[in-house]
Amino acid sequence: MINGVNSEEIQSNINKLFSSILKEQQKYTAIKAADEDKKHLTEEKLAEYTKNRGKGFFYNYLSSGRGHGPFTELIDGSVKLDLIGGIGPNILGHSHPLYIKAHLEAACSDTIMCGNLQPYQEAANLTNLLISKVQKSKLRNFWYTGSGSFANDLALKLIWQKKDPAYRLIAFTKAFAGRSVATQDITYNASYREGMQTAVNVDHVPHFDQTNPEGSAQRTIDALNEVVKQHPGQHCAIMLELVQGEGGFIFGEKDYYVQIFEWAKAHGLYIWIDEVQTFARTKELFAFQTLGLDEYVDIVTVGKALQCCGTLYSDELNPKPGLIAGTFNGSLTALNAGEKIVRYLTEGNFYGEKGRMAELEHTFISRLKHLGATSCKGKITYAGGIGTMIAFEVGDSSGPVTTKFVKDLFDRGLLVFTAGSAPTRVRMLLPVCLTDEQIDIALKIIEETVIETIN
Ligand SMILES: Cc1ncc(COP(=O)(O)O)c(C=O)c1O
Repeated sequence: MINGVNSEEIQSNINKLFSSILKEQQKYTAIKAADEDKKHLTEEKLAEYTKNRGKGFFYNYLSSGRGHGPFTELIDGSVKLDLIGGIGPNILGHSHPLYIKAHLEAACSDTIMCGNLQPYQEAANLTNLLISKVQKSKLRNFWYTGSGSFANDLALKLIWQKKDPAYRLIAFTKAFAGRSVATQDITYNASYREGMQTAVNVDHVPHFDQTNPEGSAQRTIDALNEVVKQHPGQHCAIMLELVQGEGGFIFGEKDYYVQIFEWAKAHGLYIWIDEVQTFARTKELFAFQTLGLDEYVDIVTVGKALQCCGTLYSDELNPKPGLIAGTFNGSLTALNAGEKIVRYLTEGNFYGEKGRMAELEHTFISRLKHLGATSCKGKITYAGGIGTMIAFEVGDSSGPVTTKFVKDLFDRGLLVFTAGSAPTRVRMLLPVCLTDEQIDIALKIIEETVIETIN
């Protein structure tokens, strides 16, 4: 929908421009090696960029801004099949018609960024839409933030204000909550906060154990009982990703979470779910809906696939004036695209047991398992995940072997990433536009690379 200026002429030019852009972008339909005369370009540009930002890059990747569906072109002319989508945001695929529309429509408005003091309809529309999608839960409010990390910071502030002075937090082993001063303490990996002073006191308890599901709930509850015994009356909330992203797509059954959440309620703790990575990517719009946990959640953070970030919370958690503010909601393009994405996914055939998310999950997991039982026996040792969040393990599942493997995939034209440690997994955040033919290509590259590079 066009806000800002509009006329028949604008509409007609937008339609023309939309077609011209899409026609050009649609040319990127296959994996391709770098052009001979441009081969050096990516490395050269990245070397300068690396020098100026003071840190290198995982992949030799610099986008040209061209690509279509799962295909993305680099400035050296090479085209990769992208199954990681910028670690989550690109859920529809490159140059999706809705993205192009969102950009063109936003160009009719008079500014770039939308904020809290002078809001725009785009921000209101997306907020209203999100709230309409969580009516089975207690979530009734949504506040935009500039990143997933800051959505989590905001959640913590709302909880702290209600539970003051019970500031301790319970989180889970292998959690990842972001890079802010507060969220680095929630994140389990201590090497991500080397040299930092503690900002939040967090007690980590074991999450669901995929290798030993039976006693998982009891082990978690035993650990929960232990931490509240050690710090009586000091905890405010329990915070978790229902599907641990950085952890390697680890998740439990509904019953596991019900037991944990019943325990949390009995102990007067808020239930805070981090859906920054899971939002839109499981078999309903929210992972808490996929797992049927609507009645339990008090506060939920989102980001990535939404194109903007923020925190959904119950009326009870609505803070006192003064606690939350901030300049940005997001860019008008991003807010417009967020609304389009949510509508497209929830009005199309994506969710539910027969939706595209479930189909992609089934196809990838069954085919990876098949490879692990046949041509890649002993070399692909695990395949799992949910919806468009798919992971597998290769070789000894160590960090070095998996990192080398994903870089080998990259050289052969397939773009994925790693997740977790002990085990380290190959992580994919699939775009929903994938065709069966493109899935065949991706799995063929995986199979060949495993056979040729994994001992
Ligand atoms: C589960 C989870 N929470 C929070 C974050 C932080 O989001 P951002 O990188 O937008 O700050 C991430 C990012 O990867 C995430 O996966």
